[in-house]
Amino acid sequence: MLCASLMAACACNPSTPESGAEAKADHIQWSPDERALIDSLSPLPPLPPSPTNRFADNEQARDLGHKLFFDTRLSANGRVSCSTCHVPEMYFTDGLSVGKGIGLTRRHTPTLMGPQWAPFLLWDGRADSVWSQAVGPLENPDEHGLTRVGLAKAVFDHHRKDYEAVFGPMPPLDDTERFIPTARPVPSRKSHPQNMSWGLMLEDDRKAVNTVVANVGKALEAYQRVLVPGPAPFDRYVEALGKGDPSGGGHLSKAAQRGLRAFVGKGQCINCHNTPLMTDMGFHNLGLTPTGVVAELDLGRSRGAADVLSAEFNCQGAFSDTKECQELRFLNPVFEDFLGAFKTPTLRNVAKTAPYMHTGQFKSLAEVVTFYRTLPGKAVIGHRELVLSLLDRSIETGDLVAFLETLTGDLPDKRWLAPPPEAGARLKPKGDAAGQP
Ligand code: HEC
Ligand code: HEC
Repeated sequence: MLCASLMAACACNPSTPESGAEAKADHIQWSPDERALIDSLSPLPPLPPSPTNRFADNEQARDLGHKLFFDTRLSANGRVSCSTCHVPEMYFTDGLSVGKGIGLTRRHTPTLMGPQWAPFLLWDGRADSVWSQAVGPLENPDEHGLTRVGLAKAVFDHHRKDYEAVFGPMPPLDDTERFIPTARPVPSRKSHPQNMSWGLMLEDDRKAVNTVVANVGKALEAYQRVLVPGPAPFDRYVEALGKGDPSGGGHLSKAAQRGLRAFVGKGQCINCHNTPLMTDMGFHNLGLTPTGVVAELDLGRSRGAADVLSAEFNCQGAFSDTKECQELRFLNPVFEDFLGAFKTPTLRNVAKTAPYMHTGQFKSLAEVVTFYRTLPGKAVIGHRELVLSLLDRSIETGDLVAFLETLTGDLPDKRWLAPPPEAGARLKPKGDAAGQP
C-alpha cells in the first residue's frame, strides 16, 4: 500500500529543476511532496516482533546464537561458520560474487543488517523467518554441509549446557543407533542415502531432532536481531531538516542531495527501494544477466514462493510459535511476474557490501547505476519489470552514488563482531573454508 502511494506521489511530482537562486546555495530546497518522500525513508524503525519465534528476544538464546554463529565445528570439514561468508567487518557480507563455503553457492551473500524486517528472506524468498532460514546453509552441501542429525549432534557435543538452559533437555543424540549421524531429509531425492537413513529413524526421534534444529535457528535469529543497521549521515540530514534547518546540518554534500532528488524523483528508485530499509520487500525481474555458478536457469521468486509454502519450518509448520500466517495465506506462487524475480535488497550500508545483485555481477555502485541507465540485454527468463525505464539523462551517476554512500551507518557494537571470549570457537582455521591450506 505504501508502495502504491509512493508511486503515485512520484508520478505526479517530477523533480523541479533548480532555480537560479537555489543553484548558488549549497543546499537544495525541497518541495513539500519531495519532503514527504524523503521523510518516508528515515528514521530507522524499531525492530519488529518475530511471532514465529518465542525466543527471539531471549538473552540466553541470543548468547547461544552468538556462539553458534562463529563456531566452525558446525560444519562437515570443521572450517565453515556463518561468519565465513557473513564477515562482521564487511557488514556481514564476503566481498565475493557468490558465497564460498565447502563449495560455491549459486548466489551472492547478502548483508545480515536488514533482513530482520523482511517477511521473506533470501534472494528468492524461500524462507519466511530468520530462524527457518538458518537451517538451509547448515544442511547445504556447499555451505556447512552437515546432515540434520549431525547438526543436532554437534550442538549436543559442544553447546549442550547452553542449549538446555534455554530450550530444555536434549534427546540422547549420543545413541547413534537411534539417531543415525548420516540422516537428513532430502525431499527432492527420496532414494538419496541420507534420506533413506532419515526414513529408518523413529518418527518421534525425527521430531526430536527437528525440534533441536528449529531451536538452533531460533537462537541464531535472537543473535541476528542485534545486527540492525545504525543511523547514517542521511538520517542525520533528515532529522536536521525536520528541525527546520534547511541545510540539513550539512550532512549531505550537494552531489548527494542531487542524488537524493533523483532517487525520490525522476530516477524512480523509490518505487522499489522505499521505507527506511530502502526496500519494498518485494521481488522484481530486472532482466540481469547472471554470472557465477548457475548450473540451471534460476526461476527466482517463482521457485522460492512454491518452496516456502511447502517448507517444514515455515510459519504454518509444527515448529512455529504462531498460527497467524497472513503472508503465507495470501501468497500465490504462480503469479506470472515472479518468474526470474529477485528480492529488492536493502540499500542500507550498500557502499560497504560490493559486489552487487543476486549473482554479484557488478563490482561498484557506479556499475549498478550504469545498468539502470542502459538496461542492457534482456531477461533470460520471464520479462523485465515493465516499470523500469532508462534512467533520465539529466541524472549524474556520481550524484546517485554520492547519495547511496550517505546510507552507511556504524557496525553493531564490537562485542557482537567476534565470538564471545569464553566460547573457545575455532574462529580462524588454517587455510580457506574449502579446506585448501
Ligand atoms: C557459504 C557461504 C554462507 C554461509 C556459510 C552462510 N551463508 Fe547466509 N547466505 C549466503 C548466501 C549466498 C545467501 C543468499 C542465498 C540465496 O538467496 O539463495 C545467504 C543468505 C542469508 C540470509 C538471508 C538474508 C536476506 O536478506 O534475505 C540470512 C539471514 C543468512 N544467510 C544467515 C546465515 C546464517 C545464520 C548462517 C549460519 C548458520 C549462514 N547464513 C551461513 C552465504 C552463506
Ligand atoms: C523495479 C524495482 C526497482 C527499481 C525501480 C530500482 N531497483 Fe534497485 N534493485 C531492485 C532489485 C529487485 C534488485 C536486485 C536485483 C537482482 O539481484 O536480481 C536491486 C538492486 C539494486 C542495487 C544492488 C544492491 C545489492 O546489495 O546488491 C542497488 C545499489 C540499487 N538497486 C540501486 C537502485 C537505484 C539507484 C535505483 C534508481 C535509479 C534503483 N535501484 C531502482 C529493484 C529496483
